[in-house]
Amino acid sequence: MSNYEFKDYDFEKPSFLHIILDSTLMNLLAPFIYGKYYDTFNLKGDEKVLDFGSGGGLGARELAKRLPYRGELWCVDTSTYWTNKAKKRLNKFKNVKFYVGDIKNKDIPKGYFDVITINAVLHDITPAQRQEVIMNLVKKLKQGGKLLIQEPIEPSHGMEIKEIQLILNNANLKEASHSVKRSAYQGVYVDR
Ligand SMILES: C[S@@+](CC[C@H](N)C(=O)[O-])C[C@H]1O[C@@H](n2cnc3c(N)ncnc32)[C@H](O)[C@@H]1O
Repeated sequence: MSNYEFKDYDFEKPSFLHIILDSTLMNLLAPFIYGKYYDTFNLKGDEKVLDFGSGGGLGARELAKRLPYRGELWCVDTSTYWTNKAKKRLNKFKNVKFYVGDIKNKDIPKGYFDVITINAVLHDITPAQRQEVIMNLVKKLKQGGKLLIQEPIEPSHGMEIKEIQLILNNANLKEASHSVKRSAYQGVYVDR
């Protein structure tokens, strides 16, 4: 039996500490932390990118900076609270769209995205729902596109690497590479 715990956070009602950290320390550090990670994507700047579970937009802002040549960024999240934060944070970027709700949304086209990024989201989805959510998400990926995922892997707050790999393999993707850095798994997935 897995010793991994699932913590059900209410992303509509974040703690006071979370709100303060998001607008101060994390806001200052985002260009370094998220920026360094997104540099590994080697974006040319004209890609169509879907940021799944974009939250308050700290990472999305770094992605938007890396898409200056007619690239598109689509931010999808189930939380109205965090999407409103992200909208404010990214208001100067004209090539960003926001969707609140289910990834199955028909306005998010299938087979459209060159890159899908998932950063610290899958572990926050109920274990029973993870596979179905990923199945629907992968439908949005263009043939030959890439899915890049980073998830915490600590038992107290994270997922087992083999569960992440299994879910993505079941969605017909194969792991092209992976690394483990500071209690996080980073994987790059491509079509089988
Ligand atoms: C820990 S935050 C990460 C936010 C952002 N990716 C980042 O790295 O700053 C997890 C986010 O996933 C979102 N989320 C949880 N379940 C989701 C789902 N089924 N579809 C889309 N977003 C979801 C939450 O609302 C929250 O904003």
